[in-house]
Amino acid sequence: MTNSSTQTWDAANYADNARFVSDLGAPVLDLLAPKAGERILDIGCGDGALTQKIAAVGADVVGIDHSASQVAGARALGLDAHVMDATHLIYADEFDAVFSNAALHWIKPPQAVVAGVATALKPGGRFVGEFGGFGNVSKIREASIAALNARGLDGEAANPWYFPTAEEYAELLAAHGFKVTSSVLIPRPTPLPGRMADWIKTLAQDFVAPVPEAEQDDFLEGVENDLAPDLKDADGKWTADYVRLRFSAHLED
Ligand code: BEZ
Repeated sequence: MTNSSTQTWDAANYADNARFVSDLGAPVLDLLAPKAGERILDIGCGDGALTQKIAAVGADVVGIDHSASQVAGARALGLDAHVMDATHLIYADEFDAVFSNAALHWIKPPQAVVAGVATALKPGGRFVGEFGGFGNVSKIREASIAALNARGLDGEAANPWYFPTAEEYAELLAAHGFKVTSSVLIPRPTPLPGRMADWIKTLAQDFVAPVPEAEQDDFLEGVENDLAPDLKDADGKWTADYVRLRFSAHLED
């Protein structure tokens, strides 16, 4: 996650409201195509749900995450996981592949991440991942920013995320020596397991934190009311307006 973000990760809350994040990781895992014996780094491994799938093919996988509680969850699965800031990777010339799902939009500056990945990879190594791309959760983001502004707070300053275009991210990869095989935006409206307020409280805490605690329920209700015409259906089910940026790149041999 970003160094300035106030986001924290509660394992039970995450399991209730965000399990779909790893459940929907199958396509990017297919793109990684991990093989037995490969050494693979998983950036933003969270509680290890996808890391475990990489390990299951016989790869030697290392997970890193900024959150100690998520790393504890990954270790409880028997994974080799470490608390680490992905803008300061400690690895050089040792991984066949670096993987990341639903994490890179939290980690700033992105240049530091990509530079560290290029150093961590062996020659010919690949970098495959998916994260929030340009337009991701834009309705949720805009409603949250507007609600903060309406309370006299600085909504845009609370925005924790980096959501680049596919071209912007391909350029960043190329600038660090990668050959980019693909970099595409994929709209993926995503049904939520519960209320929009629960998604915001779990995954967008930076928008709630500036509001005095006694007013937070009222703030969340206002954001929900604003979003309901676009993101809540007639049966009361919420959908988040996700857009993924999925990419694959590799270093020269
Ligand atoms: C995402 O995976 O795109 C995402 C997750 C949490 C907050 C915002 C975006």
